[in-house]
Amino acid sequence: MSFTIAIDGPAAAGKGTISRAVAAHYGFAHLDTGLLYRAVGARHLAGADPVEAARTLTAADLEAGNLRTPDVAQAASKVAAIPEVRAALVDFQRAFARRAGGAVLDGRDIGTVICPEAEAKLFVIASPEVRAERRYRELREKGVETDFATVLEDVKERDARDMGRADAPLRPADDAVELDTSHLSIDEAVATAIAAVDQAM
Ligand code: C5P
Repeated sequence: MSFTIAIDGPAAAGKGTISRAVAAHYGFAHLDTGLLYRAVGARHLAGADPVEAARTLTAADLEAGNLRTPDVAQAASKVAAIPEVRAALVDFQRAFARRAGGAVLDGRDIGTVICPEAEAKLFVIASPEVRAERRYRELREKGVETDFATVLEDVKERDARDMGRADAPLRPADDAVELDTSHLSIDEAVATAIAAVDQAM
């Protein structure tokens, strides 16, 4: 049996937290597909050709220490606009989605391009200000020196690039359930997500 849950949305809307909780709830495997693009972005920042990096990505690249920084996030969204980079990552994501026992994939194009046949699709959103506030707190907790205005600028720039690219732009699938987390606690957001997936089962 395979069952795929696709969770898409913009940066810091709560996809990661929701995906991990949903995967734990159903006992499914979870793939944070943003990490693939971050790993390619990090290798590109270190001098590698992005297409070559995407074609030769290894598990070790995904475990590299500094993938959660603002610089890597920006590099990720730049390399993610290159069609050959996206193409090189498709097979791995689709194989993960179809694994026995069920899978949750979160990203930008899971419900539209990677797994259009996913049994359940969520599109998680929140206002740019709420998302920037969450990301700002996360970064501060990790000891990254930054200010709110810079983080908000970053979020908006990445949204524009992710929504504006020609190949697999960020957008909800026609059959996705929209979940706005702006005014929800984590527990409320997770409960709403699980209720939506239960409906699809
Ligand atoms: O989700 P996260 O913020 O880690 O993603 C980093 C970047 O990777 C995004 O801004 C986006 O450009 C890209 N990405 C993508 N498709 C995905 C996941 C992430 O283009 N499925």
